[in-house]
Amino acid sequence: MIMDGNGRWARKRHLPRVAGHARGVKRVRDIVEFCIARNIRYLTLFAFSTENWKRPVDEVNHLMGLFVTALEAEVNKLCKNGVCLRVIGDLSPFSPRLQALITTAEARTAGNDRLTLTIAANYGGRWDIQQAFVGWLKVQQATGNAAAQQVSPEDIDLGPYLAMAYAPNPDLVIRTGGEQRISNFLLWQSAYAELYFTDTLWPAFDAAEMERALAWYVQRERRFGQVGQPAQAIAR
Ligand code: IPE
Ligand code: IPE
Ligand code: MG
Repeated sequence: MIMDGNGRWARKRHLPRVAGHARGVKRVRDIVEFCIARNIRYLTLFAFSTENWKRPVDEVNHLMGLFVTALEAEVNKLCKNGVCLRVIGDLSPFSPRLQALITTAEARTAGNDRLTLTIAANYGGRWDIQQAFVGWLKVQQATGNAAAQQVSPEDIDLGPYLAMAYAPNPDLVIRTGGEQRISNFLLWQSAYAELYFTDTLWPAFDAAEMERALAWYVQRERRFGQVGQPAQAIAR
């Protein structure tokens, strides 16, 4: 889920951009509940990109504050609802307090398996591929396999080193807010994802909108590079 449009939602109401972010957190709650009710097993939310540091410092600080507040307020409920929380991204620039909250929340919810809720924070698809390559290379070096001239592309199996190695690749990527771009979300993992774009701004993306996205998704014929089903097979 590329949760875009918070700022525009607020501007339309003559509110500060941060009011849109606050409302956006409420939507997260609703969509998590929706996924639990509908037996969706993996939900991944793009909360803060590696490029979002370029925003005004006040907005960045506010977003970090919202992250802290949401973690403090929601972890008990996540536990009760069987949600396993994971956070992906380079967490090293975050405050020690936020890092500690993330570690605790991940540990407390680690045994849950009803829904795996991943928050991508200071995440970028390019960063993910780079860090996966570093992970792969370290293992090669440690096992004495790293002679660069002998490596061919298919030897580089990044899958196990990507930040979401614990999850299947996304089937459906939803972007709210009207833009039709990936903005550095799960670049590697989205290779065959269905892409759903809606003009609805994230603070207005409710269960009915989610139903519409799913109804669209189930109509897709996924081919993964192969030839399609014959027409009569589809009709049947
Ligand atoms: C998405 O909303 C939230 C984040 C990227 C953190 P925006 O803040 O990008 O809202 P718009 O796109 O400016 O409306
Ligand atoms: C995408 O939104 C990133 C997140 C939702 C966290 P942006 O608002 O940062 O994307 P661009 O700048 O419009 O591409
Ligand atoms: Mg935006």
